[in-house]
Amino acid sequence: MSTSPWWQRGAIYQVYPRSFADGNGDGIGDLQGLRTHLDHLSALHVAAVWLSPVFRSPMADFGYDVADFCDVDPHFGTLDELDRLIADCHDRGIRVVLDWVPNHSSDQHPWFLASRSSRDDPKRDWYVWRDGAPDGGPPNDWRSEFGAVGPAWTFDDRTDQWYLNSYTPQQPDLNWDNPEVEAAMHDVVRFWLDRGVDGLRIDALQRLGKDPLLRSNAGSDIRHDQDWEPVAHARLRGIRRVVDEYPDRMIVGEVYLLDLHRVVDYLAGGDQLHMAHNFVFLHLPWDAAAFRSVIGDFESLAEPDAWPAWFLGNHDHSRIATRYDDDGGSGPARARAVALVLTALRGTPFLFQGDELGLPDAEIPPERVVDVDGRDPERAPLPWRPPSVAGPGAGFTTGTPWLPLVREAEALCVETQARDPRSTLSLSRRLGQLRADSATLQVGDQHLLDAGPDVLAWLRTHGTERLLAAVNFATEPRRLRAGALPDGRYDVVLSTDAGSPGDAPRGPGGTLPELVLRPTEAVLLRLIDPAPGS
Ligand code: NOJ
Ligand code: CA
Repeated sequence: MSTSPWWQRGAIYQVYPRSFADGNGDGIGDLQGLRTHLDHLSALHVAAVWLSPVFRSPMADFGYDVADFCDVDPHFGTLDELDRLIADCHDRGIRVVLDWVPNHSSDQHPWFLASRSSRDDPKRDWYVWRDGAPDGGPPNDWRSEFGAVGPAWTFDDRTDQWYLNSYTPQQPDLNWDNPEVEAAMHDVVRFWLDRGVDGLRIDALQRLGKDPLLRSNAGSDIRHDQDWEPVAHARLRGIRRVVDEYPDRMIVGEVYLLDLHRVVDYLAGGDQLHMAHNFVFLHLPWDAAAFRSVIGDFESLAEPDAWPAWFLGNHDHSRIATRYDDDGGSGPARARAVALVLTALRGTPFLFQGDELGLPDAEIPPERVVDVDGRDPERAPLPWRPPSVAGPGAGFTTGTPWLPLVREAEALCVETQARDPRSTLSLSRRLGQLRADSATLQVGDQHLLDAGPDVLAWLRTHGTERLLAAVNFATEPRRLRAGALPDGRYDVVLSTDAGSPGDAPRGPGGTLPELVLRPTEAVLLRLIDPAPGS
């Protein structure tokens, strides 16, 4: 189709393995379950699947606390099964991206067990140990990313020192100032790339650079516990050099910074990340002008060939349908519009499992809460089959699911939606197919239009083809601002409007000045007359 790299062609679909599909009935999703549902990924035409961590882990942070970076946790299966999953995906033309967690390990990792055993242990300096402050408190004012944890330091009375944990105390930070740590973690990257993994999502990349002097944040206008420029980028370049030892591999960073200037720095020079998750975008309110400005900011701040990654949900954030659509009314109309936005923008769309169903967050009763940071609702298991047919596990499990499923499983499960051509799943499949078949969507130029209040619109052009995407953020019909648009006729490629029963389906096309967007509708149009002056 196009000669762009694989990771630019289609969506990257995030699987949260615990909640995707359970193959052995213990209530926890696993690799066996995932392998039996690869048809679902093929039907979405995704370019790649990204697996949240499946490595050995005591599960204090559900896999983001890794006790062996080079083995699979028995909850998920075996290394052999992971090899088979990679092979099965490759047979289908689906690339595999693993989640690499370089900032910290589990406190049960043999490296940390050695490190905490004595001040003289050869691995002592593999983690960040310090004496307390003169008042007996922690060494500085750094805080854990998780509010419930508090200070980012844990006192260990075995050796009377504190260790740094930017997340939970079960996730001690590795000391990247120590070249042995850097080399060992580079070897982890090689281990997986040697096994045929196509890419890595780098967890908490902004945390790899910290002030080596461990100065407090207070009284400084920059933070000392993350994004520390003097070391951050050199460290990332070192990682990229390892990745570039292999052909055709990709790294995408979780660069959790809410300043886009700082984020695009991690893409600069062509020798750092291939893509960075843009959390400024994820935090946007439902507002056309806000979307437009963040899309425009990426274009103006990043280097011209820097490649955007667009995402609006993952396993750490309330789901799209809940954030944007929870009005008790008309179904996930905004989530459907968002699916078109992600597909039609220049850049790689990232989908979180369940977004293709318009799944909302689940309600988690207090006695079932398991996450330290309130992230259970978006991690509820995927409903595959109607509970009325498959029982309360909804085809996710035959046992007791580790988290409750959504209340709406009967209507929103894969099986029910697959039967309905107007469902969100059917829409997601059409969007995936469109993206897979369209060089214009994959590599076309992009031009944001000034389309008037409540409307986000942009053109994608490639050769002689011109596609126009437009989204109505209002709950009333909107006409695109005259003058923003090229004159001429269009064909409707796709509308996200599911219509209500009895609505006339959107016609096959018309002329642009007459185009009226329905409430919360997103459309993709092919312009069929030559542009004026061309
Ligand atoms: C970011 C991950 O997405 C999140 O789930 C995890 O808790 C932290 N990093 C720590 O690894
Ligand atoms: Ca299982």
